[in-house]
Amino acid sequence: MPSPFGIRRRIKRLLGIEAKKSAEPEVEPEKITLHILGPKGDEQSVTTYAGSTILGASGQLRHPIASGCSDSTCGTCHVEILEGADNLSEPTARERGTLRESGHPAGQRLSCRTEILKGTVKVKAFELV
Ligand code: FES
Repeated sequence: MPSPFGIRRRIKRLLGIEAKKSAEPEVEPEKITLHILGPKGDEQSVTTYAGSTILGASGQLRHPIASGCSDSTCGTCHVEILEGADNLSEPTARERGTLRESGHPAGQRLSCRTEILKGTVKVKAFELV
């Protein structure tokens, strides 16, 4: 909890025990690129940080992927992976169950649960906002 008026910092400076700044430069988080092919053949792209979900990254676009629950229960956000499947997080049991119950074929993922871990990924979206 920060002290009011920076009192702790002033006391440490007076006592000569101010924390040293790290000599190592800050590492910029890895960037990823997501390409989305829309249902009408239109394509959108976004570059953002690794670890973003496909749905989260698409939220930066003019027409993001449609979603319902954002917790892998409705299946609305399903996408087909066209390129870069190896750059994605593994599907959870819950995601696999929702895809199976919704009747989505193999090769599809729930964009709200699928993280882009590295590189470039291209998906086909079935519904955009
Ligand atoms: S938004 Fe409902 S499963 Fe992704």
